[in-house]
Amino acid sequence: MNEDSTYYQKSVLVTGCSSGMGRSIALFLAQHGFLVFATVRKEKDFNSLKDIDEKNLVPVFPLDLTIQEHIPNVLEIVKKELAARNIKGLYSVINNAGGGFIAPIELMDIGKFRTELETRILGPVALLQAFLPLIREAHGRILWIATPSLIPIPYVSSIHACDFAQNCLARTLQIELGPWKIPNILIRCGGMDTPSPAKNALELENSMKEWPKERLNLYKEALIKNQESLSKFDKKRTDPKKAAETVFKALCAKNPKSRYQVGHLSKSAAFFECLPQALVDHIMSGR
Ligand SMILES: NC(=O)c1ccc[n+]([C@@H]2O[C@H](COP(=O)([O-])OP(=O)(O)OC[C@H]3O[C@@H](n4cnc5c(N)ncnc54)[C@H](OP(=O)(O)O)[C@@H]3O)[C@@H](O)[C@H]2O)c1
Repeated sequence: MNEDSTYYQKSVLVTGCSSGMGRSIALFLAQHGFLVFATVRKEKDFNSLKDIDEKNLVPVFPLDLTIQEHIPNVLEIVKKELAARNIKGLYSVINNAGGGFIAPIELMDIGKFRTELETRILGPVALLQAFLPLIREAHGRILWIATPSLIPIPYVSSIHACDFAQNCLARTLQIELGPWKIPNILIRCGGMDTPSPAKNALELENSMKEWPKERLNLYKEALIKNQESLSKFDKKRTDPKKAAETVFKALCAKNPKSRYQVGHLSKSAAFFECLPQALVDHIMSGR
C-alpha cells in the first residue's frame, strides 16, 4: 500500500462485528485495503478484534444500536482516525447488526421485538443521520445486509418485519439521497452459516419452557416441524466469506446494482417474491 499521507484510502464502518457476517465482512475488507471501523457492543469482542492485529482494522466500542447515546462517541472516534490518516469522509456504512428470534406472534416477547426494531431500524436511522455528512463528503454508498426475499415466513416475524421496514428505508433513501448520488445497496443474503441459527434455536427452546402450556400447545407441533425443516436447511448454509466478497464487489463497482443476491437459496427466494401475493401466502400457510 502507498504510505504517502495523501493516499486516498476508502473507509467503511460495519456494525455488529463480534461474529458471523459482520466479522467476516470487516476482516475481508480490511485485508483487501479498506480502512474498516468495526463496531461491537462488548469489550471482549473489541479485544478479540484488536488481537487480530490487522493494520486496516479499527475496532470501535461500544456501539449498541439500542442506545442512541453511543453514536456521538463513535462519530468522534471515526473523525479522529480519518483525520489522522488524511482521509476525507467515510465511504460506506454497512448496516449489518441484528438478532431476532423464533416465536409465533401470539406468544412473542414484546420487549425482545422492540429491541430488534431498535437494532435493525431505529438505530441504523440514527447512525445514518450522524454519518451522512461524512458519507456525502466521500461520495460514498450505504449497504444493507438484508433478507433474500420479502415474504411472510411464519414464526420469524421479529426478523421479517424488520426486513420489510429495512427494505422501505433503503429504497426511500435511494430516492432521497439521489441528488448526491449516494446509492443504497441491498446485499440480499440467503442462508448464511453464522452463529445466529443456533442462538435462535436455543432461545426458542428456553421460550417454550416459559410460555403458558395451553397456548404453547396450540403451536407446539408446527414449531417442532418448523425446527426440523430448519435443521435440514442449516446444513446447507453458505460460508459468510461469500457475503463479504459480495460486499467488496458492491463497494468497488463503478455503477453498483441496487441489490445483490448471495447465499443458500437466495435466488429462488427472490423468485418467490415475484409471485402473486395470494399465492405466496397460500404456499407459506402449508409450511
Ligand atoms: N444468517 C443468515 O442466514 C442471514 C440471512 C439474511 C440476513 N441476515 C442478517 O445478517 C445480519 C448479521 O447476522 P449474522 O447471521 O451474521 O448473525 P450473528 O453472527 O448473530 O451477528 C449479529 C451481530 O449483530 C450484533 N448485534 C445484535 N444486537 C445488536 C445491537 N443492539 N447493537 C449492536 N449490535 C448488535 C451482534 O452483537 P453481539 O455479539 O453483541 O450480540 C453480532 O455482532 C443480521 O442483521 C441478520 O438479520 C442473516
